[in-house]
Amino acid sequence: MTEMTYKTILVNKENGIAWVTFNRPDKRNAISPQVAFDMVDALTKLDTDPDVRVLVLTGAGDAFSAGMDLKLFFRDLDDKPVEQAAAREAVRRYEWYKLSNFSKPTIAMVNGYCFGGAFIPLVACDFAIAAEDATFGLSEVNWGILPGGLVSKVVSMTMNYRQSLYYAMTGRPFDGKTAADIGLVTYAVPRARLRDEVVELAADLMTKSPAVLRATKETLKHVALLSPDEAYEYIQAKSEQLRFRDAENTRARGMKGFLDEKAYKPGFTPVKRA
Ligand code: ACO
Repeated sequence: MTEMTYKTILVNKENGIAWVTFNRPDKRNAISPQVAFDMVDALTKLDTDPDVRVLVLTGAGDAFSAGMDLKLFFRDLDDKPVEQAAAREAVRRYEWYKLSNFSKPTIAMVNGYCFGGAFIPLVACDFAIAAEDATFGLSEVNWGILPGGLVSKVVSMTMNYRQSLYYAMTGRPFDGKTAADIGLVTYAVPRARLRDEVVELAADLMTKSPAVLRATKETLKHVALLSPDEAYEYIQAKSEQLRFRDAENTRARGMKGFLDEKAYKPGFTPVKRA
């Protein structure tokens, strides 16, 4: 296991997985400016690290993250425009730009409290696996703001119209099972199984071609806002880019393995990595 050292996050690399952990458990992993600075640096390095095949984002202690740090991110910076601008820029870069565009699969492992601003990194990850008893909440309304940053956007991307208005306007908390039912997370599992389920999903992803996974996620994330004709063109261009990018030549090996060698069933299992 190798580690990278930061003030507010832990980064461990083990068996192809980069475990990135918000590490302010005494403050329920609230997102301070330093968390954002640390995350920008870590994600930049991990994105091109050849030892990293999958990234898992989680929190230390009993919280995933209690959202933006109300003191360090908001109140302390209200009359410091330069520091405030730097913090906002860093949080925007890591929470959405860096995480959502990460070139490898990303999994949010929701181990506990997940409030407000924490919904952004949650949704930026490709997968979100939650403990059934994790607690989610759009609590902004309870202290006098609307779901800011990109929270309103990511909520409208994942939850339906009725659910998003209900939870944003009442601030009522909900558990991991409900989060799965309403589409905010991929699935929920008993807390005792959480880590094993995440490792299992990561292992499954690691059997597939990294280039194909990257092209697939980039395509699905970008076509949503395109017209059908634009989407068709984009998908074609992306498919051709993939043939060029995929040094393992997975497509040709896959066809040969199935059609000529009868070596595997692509309906059920991936072609072996080169
Ligand atoms: N910002 C700053 N500090 C926080 C935050 C936060 N979002 N959340 C928790 N803390 C701090 C508390 O102030 C407390 O600090 P202290 O020990 O110095 O007094 C410490 O973390 C522990 O918090 P408790 O409330 O004592 O912990 P508990 O486990 O009882 O409750 C809970 C946890 C439910 C998460 C509660 O702390 C809470 O409601 N936090 C605010 C959650 C929230 O509304 N987040 C959205 C913020 S808005 C946004 O993200 C845009």
